[in-house]
Amino acid sequence: MNLPTSVRLVEVGPRDGLQNEKQPINVADKVRLVDDLSAAGLSYIEVGSFVSPKWVPQMAGSAEVFAGIAQRPGVTYAALTPNMKGFEAALAAGVKEVAVFAAASEAFSQKNINCSIGESLERFLPLMDAARQHDIRVRGYVSCVLGCPYEGEVDALQVARVARDLFAMGCYEVSLGDTIGTGTAGATRRLIETVAQYVPRERLAGHFHDTYGQALANIYASLLEGIAVFDSSVAGLGGCPYAKGATGNVATEDVLYLLNGLGIETGIDLQRLIAAGERICSLLGKDNGSRVAKSFLAKCQ
Ligand code: HMG
Ligand code: MG
Repeated sequence: MNLPTSVRLVEVGPRDGLQNEKQPINVADKVRLVDDLSAAGLSYIEVGSFVSPKWVPQMAGSAEVFAGIAQRPGVTYAALTPNMKGFEAALAAGVKEVAVFAAASEAFSQKNINCSIGESLERFLPLMDAARQHDIRVRGYVSCVLGCPYEGEVDALQVARVARDLFAMGCYEVSLGDTIGTGTAGATRRLIETVAQYVPRERLAGHFHDTYGQALANIYASLLEGIAVFDSSVAGLGGCPYAKGATGNVATEDVLYLLNGLGIETGIDLQRLIAAGERICSLLGKDNGSRVAKSFLAKCQ
């Protein structure tokens, strides 16, 4: 199969990244990160979550972040919403695109959103109706598509069923999340072949955490399967609060380097992206998780 000529990167650093950082980050720093990312050419940024602050305290203040960012035309600024309460809060904050998130494993669903997979899907139905009424697009996530921290192996058919249900209820795109980063290129290809029997490939996205260092290989495998949307996190920030030991998403800089090398268009400026990642890492006092950023920065010293 031919590789896609262009790819859309969904920048999840401000959400998937920062949700897992230990120290609180103030609103102004979050706003700066989002603005730096849009200035680097990212056209889709997941800015925050409207979830319970008791569950994920780092995402408190997402409404203020939305109020503070300089929204550029052509850029999608999205938020996670697990239920109607979250959706209403997002709506009040002027959010124009939201994401619902389900899991392919029952145990993870319970730990992450305190209900079964079936209950979560039911919970999304009124949200989907409300979104339609307000002309808000909804993206869907499935977690644990290549393994679960509690249940181990996850059946690809189970992933396909959850993805199918999200797509059928109106999610325009379903992102397949390797939450714990245990997936391999072969497993990724088999997964996509199974899920694509239920959801068209052009409606699927890949979301790879890099815990086992396999994310870039899995992205390449997905490209070969015709997937052209990938979630990534600047400087490889983050992890998942309900998946112990999971590291951040694959670093956006590293994915961009891969795509640039393949001649695949993204519209993103690598140098500006590296600067955005460095700024947030120094604020957090942590090492930059992007190998590409580290190498470029070492050369500049
Ligand atoms: P619950 O305790 O079952 O909810 O939590 P509840 O409806 O019984 O309400 C309990 C309390 O939470 C009430 O407040 C509600 O008002 C409040 P109280 O009366 O105790 O003061 N509440 C809310 N507050 C703010 N916003 C809301 C909201 N809903 C209820 N939306 C709930 C259920 C889903 C809320 C909870 O489990 C939760 O917030 N979980 C957070 C999960 C999360 O954010 N996980 C990380 C993101 S997912 C992820 O990272 C995976 C992904 O990256 C893909 C991948 O890598 O796999 C997407
Ligand atoms: Mg994630």
